[in-house]
Amino acid sequence: MMIERCEYQSRRQRLAEYLQDDSLCLIPAAREVTRSRDTHYPFRQDSDFYYLTGFHEPDAVLLLLKRQGKTTSVLFCLAKDPAAEIWHGRRTGPAKAKEQVGVDHSFPLQQLPEQLPEYLAGCRQLYFAQGSYEHIDALVFACLEQQRQAGKKGQRPPGTLIDIREHLHEMRLIKSSAEVSLMRRAADISTDAHKRAMCFARPGRYEYQLEAELHHEFALQGARHPAYGTIVGSGDNGCILHYTENQSPLKDGDLILIDAGAELMGYAADITRTFPVNGRFSEAQAQLYQLVLDAQLAAFEEIKPGSTLVRATEAAVVVITRGLLDLGILSGSLEGNLAEKTYRQYFMHGLGHWLGLDVHDVGDYKVEGEDRPLEPGMVLTVEPGIYIPADADVDPKWRATGIRIEDNLLVTVDGHENLTAAAPKEIQAIEALMAGSR
Ligand code: GLY
Ligand code: MN
Ligand code: MN
Repeated sequence: MMIERCEYQSRRQRLAEYLQDDSLCLIPAAREVTRSRDTHYPFRQDSDFYYLTGFHEPDAVLLLLKRQGKTTSVLFCLAKDPAAEIWHGRRTGPAKAKEQVGVDHSFPLQQLPEQLPEYLAGCRQLYFAQGSYEHIDALVFACLEQQRQAGKKGQRPPGTLIDIREHLHEMRLIKSSAEVSLMRRAADISTDAHKRAMCFARPGRYEYQLEAELHHEFALQGARHPAYGTIVGSGDNGCILHYTENQSPLKDGDLILIDAGAELMGYAADITRTFPVNGRFSEAQAQLYQLVLDAQLAAFEEIKPGSTLVRATEAAVVVITRGLLDLGILSGSLEGNLAEKTYRQYFMHGLGHWLGLDVHDVGDYKVEGEDRPLEPGMVLTVEPGIYIPADADVDPKWRATGIRIEDNLLVTVDGHENLTAAAPKEIQAIEALMAGSR
């Protein structure tokens, strides 16, 4: 399962259509990042560069040159180097990369400083994401300065620098069918991992052991890296939204909140499930849990073309506020509580976000000041939660309870498809799965 070369070519073509004539667009790859002496973090390609090339090597640079309506694509990448490759791994090299990426020309990276001024000559606009990579800023600004100095000879650097991200990120917001296939696979792998963690949980086991189960399942199915730091928070830890310590023992009677998703060929899944350590929800846990689930399902009703994430949020907020009133956790009128947004004490994050190559994917949430209408091909999370910490001023039975339920929804022409529907979330389904594993 992969994205075909022609799809990358057509993405570059679409981007080029947006460029003004006599312009150059420069998109850099990511760099290796040192973790500690002589070791690096696992390499993660820059999402914009990857979206346009599918090329997974560090330090490369893609240029799109547009002149008289015609676009030329050029890739600069690491040169073949047998000695370096023995130590650090194979390199594609410019010749093979040209074929693989389907660009018009390719050159060794070390030629970029001398060739960039030639590509820039006569360009009126330069499109690039300033501030993203210091070394690219330095290279580009040195090149522009050089052209200014040469101004006496009739050369002039581009007068306009345009941030390419705005347009590129609009493209990334709408997923192609090939992208959806990859996201569906990332969702399936992540679903299997969540089920595995549910089956493994027991009092006395540790949060990090559940993390290990999740990552084991990801890797077994070809997704070697999680899309973000895995959260396994039991009891009060579930109330820390970005808890990644994952060190505590699991206690009988606690809930566990797991927020974990695999990354597959760059694409993220982002699933949260909450379940009891001992396999059975207590009555109080079940009441709060059902409330979060009802809120999520109410929000799902608004995930359809023409509706908005804000409307989905409003639907969830009404359910949560009414439920917290019914349970006696909030007091007063529904209208008064909605007006005061009192639910924010217990549900303090957004309902969801775009999902794609980045877990918090790109794309504006407002268009010309208005909430963005949902469109087919968008993928987003819907993740309401209720978090009542151990020291909350409520009946003790509610305390130390963090609940979030998060699914990944593809907007379709007539509504949505839940890509993560197979991860159990009905109370009975969770209890049945866990009972079967004991
Ligand atoms: N896992 C990060 C989030 O849910 O947004
Ligand atoms: Mn999320
Ligand atoms: Mn999440």
